[in-house]
Amino acid sequence: MSVDHSLAVTGTAPRAFLFADPAAHSLSPRMHNAAFEWAGISGQYQAQQVPAADLPARVEGLRQPGILGANLSLPHKESVLPLLDALSDAARAIGAVNTIIHRDGQLIGDNTDAPGLMAALDDAGAPDRGPAAVLGAGGAARAAVWALRAAGREVLVVNRTQARAEALTRELGGRACAVAAVSWAEVTLLVNASSAGLGDPYATPLADFAFRQLPAEALVYDMVYKPAETRLMREAREAGRHAENGLGMLAHQARLAFQAWTGHDVPVRIFLDALAGVTS
Ligand SMILES: NC(=O)c1ccc[n+]([C@@H]2O[C@H](COP(=O)([O-])OP(=O)(O)OC[C@H]3O[C@@H](n4cnc5c(N)ncnc54)[C@H](OP(=O)(O)O)[C@@H]3O)[C@@H](O)[C@H]2O)c1
Repeated sequence: MSVDHSLAVTGTAPRAFLFADPAAHSLSPRMHNAAFEWAGISGQYQAQQVPAADLPARVEGLRQPGILGANLSLPHKESVLPLLDALSDAARAIGAVNTIIHRDGQLIGDNTDAPGLMAALDDAGAPDRGPAAVLGAGGAARAAVWALRAAGREVLVVNRTQARAEALTRELGGRACAVAAVSWAEVTLLVNASSAGLGDPYATPLADFAFRQLPAEALVYDMVYKPAETRLMREAREAGRHAENGLGMLAHQARLAFQAWTGHDVPVRIFLDALAGVTS
């Protein structure tokens, strides 16, 4: 059944948004509009470019009837916190909100990046025991460290700027390490949560790294999904290690946000199908 979105935006049909700056290239509308269609809901999801100065008014506007909530992306994930009525445990600990849920005039901040990553790791068959190394110390790394620690993993944080890794681990736990100080033969999961490799097939957060040091069963998970195969992934695969890009995490964080807004547990394949071909 096709959905008439032109009616959905003007009537009382449910709506959800992405607030980001820039927003034009977001993949979220494809995923959420496919989910609305699958669930038989005449709703609409729109990506909107929201400069930082406009964020408070736009968030306040989410309290209107018919609005399910919003996703947040750069640069709003942290600055939105004081604008909300309540935070989930994950959002409070990570210090970042990627999903606002509107319930009867109240705005609740959640972070679905963290459980989205864990679901994607599960789909990819990641070993669930052994130390995990996280590359990066920004918002995505915070979500990864929190989620992996909540799952009982030993976590090592490796970042270009060591002081940021130390600050992160002081707050969230885990151990900040230089590359040379990691016992790589024990690391069963390597997560790239740095932005190295984003849009650049020649960039890597781990130059001159011998992926053969990792155990044979180790998974290299790159949160970057454009290009579909990053240099980190290519080098890991050349060394015979399993590697996945971040599309699974992107799909699962959207699935979890959609479920929080609508109550519908839409299969992740609906979100993945909506992303087909976008990274090539
Ligand atoms: N798949 C998904 O669903 C998903 C979800 C969230 C984020 N992401 C991706 O995750 C990545 C990080 O996002 P973020 O919001 O955490 O970004 P961020 O806050 O800007 O943090 C970027 C991190 O990357 C490091 N970095 C940047 N360039 C580097 C380089 N050339 N070599 C080594 N390290 C480098 C920075 O190190 P310094 O501290 O030294 O500056 C910093 O730790 C982005 O690519 C984003 O698209 C994917």
